[in-house]
Amino acid sequence: MRASAIHSVEEARRLARRRLPRMVFDYIDGAAGNEAGARRARHALDAVTLQPRILRDVSDRSLATTLFGSEAARPFGIAPMGMCNLAWPGADLMLARLAARYKVPHGISTVASTPMERILEVAEGHAWFQLYFSGDGTGTFKLIERAKQAGFKTLVLTVDVPEVGRRPRELRHGFKMPFKWSPARVLDCALHPHWSLSTLAAGAPRMANFNMEGFEFDRTESRAKADWDTFKRVRAVWPGKLVVKGVLDADDAAQLAREGADAIQVSTHGARQLESAPAATDALIKIRARVGPDMPLFFDSGLRSGEDVLKTLYLGADFTFLGRPLQFAIAAAGERGLQKMWDVLSDELSIAMAQTGQTNLRQG
Ligand code: FNR
Repeated sequence: MRASAIHSVEEARRLARRRLPRMVFDYIDGAAGNEAGARRARHALDAVTLQPRILRDVSDRSLATTLFGSEAARPFGIAPMGMCNLAWPGADLMLARLAARYKVPHGISTVASTPMERILEVAEGHAWFQLYFSGDGTGTFKLIERAKQAGFKTLVLTVDVPEVGRRPRELRHGFKMPFKWSPARVLDCALHPHWSLSTLAAGAPRMANFNMEGFEFDRTESRAKADWDTFKRVRAVWPGKLVVKGVLDADDAAQLAREGADAIQVSTHGARQLESAPAATDALIKIRARVGPDMPLFFDSGLRSGEDVLKTLYLGADFTFLGRPLQFAIAAAGERGLQKMWDVLSDELSIAMAQTGQTNLRQG
């Protein structure tokens, strides 16, 4: 498929749906429950408008911003996602190269399909390690040590998965580890030969961060034991920046700010966790009001265009992340699809800035 066919996130999604086996597409695209949370996020973003302004010279515009004191060429980065190589062999490293080109963070999932050290190297340091606390924490603290040794400067602690949300579209296909074949799954793959042959040739993706002595990751192991004491322990052993991802409550945000988080990532996990959670944009407004102007706030969940990014910056985010749109673009047309999607998002943002009379995202 041709990257030039991608003119919007929705088009990338449609192309991804054609190329991927349904079970893989539904794993990426699906959301919790009846997916009302995903629709709520869309409605909330659609309800936000941007004010056009006229007769300002907007010929010279910059999409750059500052993130933890360093320049990032875009105000959006790559949200951590598990098993990206399912979308296309080598997807993790495509994302890493993108992060290096634009000096934006690439979130590396605990359950990434490429070792964290390799991604950090290819991303030229523009990678953050995302951590899940699980079980009694033994493996979790080993992973922190490993990330420290590897040279990561930023750790993202994801706190919105005390239990993995029920996503019927994922469950329906029996999409879990270890993967078991059934006649329906064989047919699904046979109907998508391009994906099946390239994935077969590259070898089935695996979780790549669990080849540590004395530690086997179990996706189904409960993450429910994490508490405020866990946060303090992580804070105590992590010398770099600590971002806490999956925050939707203003009291929680205020407590994180008091207890030493360096940034808060407002997120509903892309509507994959609690179906009834508020739209992340509504939470963002409340959290910004509570923590004041100086606390760095990041945002993800449901962003589907450059205009969506601009809206959330206006609502109080300092930086944003996209998840599914980047995987759709890779699934649709590989690395060229990813670059095309990035260019589309950048154009949408730049044009929206011109139409609203902005030349610089740092103006506040
Ligand atoms: C995710 N997300 C996620 N988050 C995280 O902290 N660790 C993880 O391993 C994953 N894995 C994951 C897999 C897939 C397939 C998706 C779609 C998402 C959540 C992700 O970081 C982010 O919060 C959402 O994807 C943002 O919403 P959009 O942009 O996908 O709508």
